[in-house]
Amino acid sequence: KTYNVGYLIGSLAKDSINRKLAHALIRLAPEQLKFREISFADLPAYSYDYDSDYPQAGRDFKKAIESSDAILIVTPEYNRSIPGALKNAIDWASRPWGKNSFAHIPSGVIGTSPGAIGTAVGQQHLRSILGFLNSPQMNSPEAYIQFKDGMLDDAGGIADPGTAKFLADYLEEFHQFVARVLTVLPRGA
Ligand code: FNR
Repeated sequence: KTYNVGYLIGSLAKDSINRKLAHALIRLAPEQLKFREISFADLPAYSYDYDSDYPQAGRDFKKAIESSDAILIVTPEYNRSIPGALKNAIDWASRPWGKNSFAHIPSGVIGTSPGAIGTAVGQQHLRSILGFLNSPQMNSPEAYIQFKDGMLDDAGGIADPGTAKFLADYLEEFHQFVARVLTVLPRGA
């Protein structure tokens, strides 16, 4: 059985190290997981004034979340939290009231930063948000990846075999977590 995983990159930067990590993860993932990036670069700043008539970008974003079997968020930490653009996108998906797109969609969080604690604090904020939005999230394993020169090889893969194995295990656990959640909470039920 295959699962469509929509992934969000928390960063809008052209050379985002988190997008590089995401691309490396896709190469390590079990074949049952099919990945598609869900972009939120076009979303304006959210306000509830939009609730009565969501713009196309907001509708498309909600639909992309809802049509995914699972969501993986690969995000940097900004000022010990998540980037504002990612929070804005999640706010769009959570509304209008009663139409929260994240409800019951299993999620995972991961991220990289050059700093030694590798996005740990930002990820905790993200977990709090996903909890409120009723997205069953994989609690364990956690993955706080310190981005260092040489972490990626020339082809964009993970150079260090130990790190590659850690990430492959993380993705296999995510696969099994998604399969378990969707057994109890089948989509469309
Ligand atoms: C950062 N950075 C950062 N790093 C970190 O480990 N903890 C933090 O709180 C912050 N705060 C922060 C705020 C802002 C506004 C910026 C621009 C950067 C550094 C950050 O990890 C680094 O820029 C990464 O390259 C961000 O990942 P992307 O955007 O390249 O994927």
